[in-house]
Amino acid sequence: MRRPLVAGNWKMNGSLESIKSLLDGVKAGMSDVKQAEVAVCAPAIYLPAVQQQLQGSDIAWGGQDVSAEASGAYTGEISTSMLKEFGCKYAIVGHSERRAYHAESDDTVARKYAAARAAGLIPILCVGETLEEREKGITESVVARQMDALINLEGVAALADGVIAYEPVWAIGTGMTASPEQAQEVHAFIRGRVAALDAGVAEGLRILYGGSMKPGNAQELIAKPDIDGGLIGGAALDAGDFLGICTAA
Ligand code: G3P
Repeated sequence: MRRPLVAGNWKMNGSLESIKSLLDGVKAGMSDVKQAEVAVCAPAIYLPAVQQQLQGSDIAWGGQDVSAEASGAYTGEISTSMLKEFGCKYAIVGHSERRAYHAESDDTVARKYAAARAAGLIPILCVGETLEEREKGITESVVARQMDALINLEGVAALADGVIAYEPVWAIGTGMTASPEQAQEVHAFIRGRVAALDAGVAEGLRILYGGSMKPGNAQELIAKPDIDGGLIGGAALDAGDFLGICTAA
């Protein structure tokens, strides 16, 4: 039995003030969340504030990205040990916005995953196709390529220590959610690909859906057998909406 995970990805949003009221709101509603594990991935500069507010609560936190390098001359980067120092449990790697705007390759993302895992963080590996790729009918080969970069680098066992988030790029921030059937189809493909290598790892692997998930569509998405929660963008910026998804899970 996989425990659902609902993780907020705040992206480049918020201020000290807005984060405080958002987290106060989420904390106040946590007693209604019966089953899901809840986490928020904050802009790195706000992680100390998030840690201060969430320490001792049932809500975990994490980074939105992490360097594959341990330390050194990498201006602007944040290392795994820095995330650990501020109590992070999770680190998102390979979000489509990092792939698109920062030219992150599958190999770079796989190395980031490996570094996060080695540091004892739980990496959330984002995969997903663009609209053009879906229309060409190559969704599965794109997702397979993104997964295989990690599996070839670290072996399938690496997925026992992480989470995969399927985020169709065309559904992110667009209001165009994948239908539960469309999402389930890709989630089943992902789990099947892992199962072909290791059935036990596949069984335990949490695969989140991300892309315009809202309180109104979360339940039917998460009800699908291979959808184990969500990675939430826009709706994670509103305590009521985020809690609505967390309670639906
Ligand atoms: O990582 C979360 C994400 O990209 C989905 O964003 O705004 O469509 O929920 P959104």
